[in-house]
Amino acid sequence: MNQPKVVMIGLGYIGLPTAALIAQNKTYVHGVDINPNVVDTINAGKIHIVEPELDNAVANAVKEGYLKASTTPVEANTYLIVVPTPFKAKNEPDISFVEAATKAIIPLLKPNDLYIIESTSPVGTTEKMMELIYSERPELQNQLSIAYCPERVLPGNVMYELVHNDRVIGGINESSTEKAVDFYSQFIKGDLHKTNARTAEMCKLVENSSRDVQIAFANELSLICDKANINVWELIKLANKHPRVNILQPGCGVGGHCIAVDPYFIVSDYPMESQIIGKAREINNYKSFWCAEKIQTAKLQFEIKHGRKPSIAIMGLAFKPNIDDLRESPAKYIAQKVLQNANNEEYFIVEPNIESHKVFKLTGYKEAIEKADIIAFLVAHNEFKNTNIGSDKVVLDFCGILSNK
Ligand SMILES: NC(=O)c1ccc[n+]([C@@H]2O[C@H](COP(=O)([O-])OP(=O)(O)OC[C@H]3O[C@@H](n4cnc5c(N)ncnc54)[C@H](O)[C@@H]3O)[C@@H](O)[C@H]2O)c1
Repeated sequence: MNQPKVVMIGLGYIGLPTAALIAQNKTYVHGVDINPNVVDTINAGKIHIVEPELDNAVANAVKEGYLKASTTPVEANTYLIVVPTPFKAKNEPDISFVEAATKAIIPLLKPNDLYIIESTSPVGTTEKMMELIYSERPELQNQLSIAYCPERVLPGNVMYELVHNDRVIGGINESSTEKAVDFYSQFIKGDLHKTNARTAEMCKLVENSSRDVQIAFANELSLICDKANINVWELIKLANKHPRVNILQPGCGVGGHCIAVDPYFIVSDYPMESQIIGKAREINNYKSFWCAEKIQTAKLQFEIKHGRKPSIAIMGLAFKPNIDDLRESPAKYIAQKVLQNANNEEYFIVEPNIESHKVFKLTGYKEAIEKADIIAFLVAHNEFKNTNIGSDKVVLDFCGILSNK
């Protein structure tokens, strides 16, 4: 491989597709990951994650010599940081992976290099990394371009969205922004919107917080309607007939590694100011607890009415419909909670998008619907639509699968 132009640190769901895209454009990419299995898999021209079209892109890039993976970085012109940014106890953001990745490349930096963070990060992270770089390499002060550019792709459509989505690019100064825009304009057809690093960092957090707050409003309505004996799905359909109203759908909570996580990055740093954002997180978490309590109540009512213990079907574990991803999944939390309260009832746990699970024994959806006395729909998977449910069953529809037919 020729001298790499780009070093990509972190070869996961975002880093690997981005590395493959850059390599497809015949730019030499040296990918770095601390996981040697990831490195070996990629160097064999294979992939370790599920993402349509990524396998071919990586296989070709490796075969043609434009992509190589390693556990250590090398000298290049552009360094991209795409490592995880999870949260710690008390919902505080953990930027230690970004710090570790940055420290690994500091000795390699030279004048005119471009350093970009793509990891979802709390406001001020890019400035912090700039200070870290210049504290260890003071001779490089003002000679590097440093920028932040968040990712907003939809898993399952990453290879298309990477190219076609608009991007927000914020440098620590104008020349850094310009240089980062020049870099991305080689691979991206979407519009590239220029700003500063802090605004770009906040933009990513706000996009996901906005979704979280809007879903919390729908979930709050579902709690109110349950008490008021109103079908919330019908109510929302009717309210949305107003030309300027667009209420989202309630569910059994909010999950995934973005919407259920990123708002905490704002709340943690601005607790007094982020009242609605913080409350939305609480409401969406509470909705999952409430669903588990509803199942518990239905169990007890069934036992009193029929003089025997019911069998219960838990329909769905994923964090949203038609995917196999259980990260931060409210449905998984509810299933766990319900099983903790089990008292010799029979349970059918259903997740049609995965074959097996190390904790839950899975049952097919048809069998579960046929055999269970109580059916709790948590996720609106396609398989669950248009199923025949006997009139003798107790149905708890937390995702509107029956009302939204
Ligand atoms: N996955 C998404 O849909 C998505 C969307 C938008 C933003 N993001 C953000 O992008 C960032 C990366 O997310 P992801 O989903 O790609 O994560 P991921 O867990 O799939 O991949 C991260 C990779 O980084 C590696 N890594 C960790 N520390 C490292 C280090 N010091 N040096 C080298 N490699 C290291 C890990 O081994 C892993 O393979 C996160 O901040 C995430 O919030 C993700």
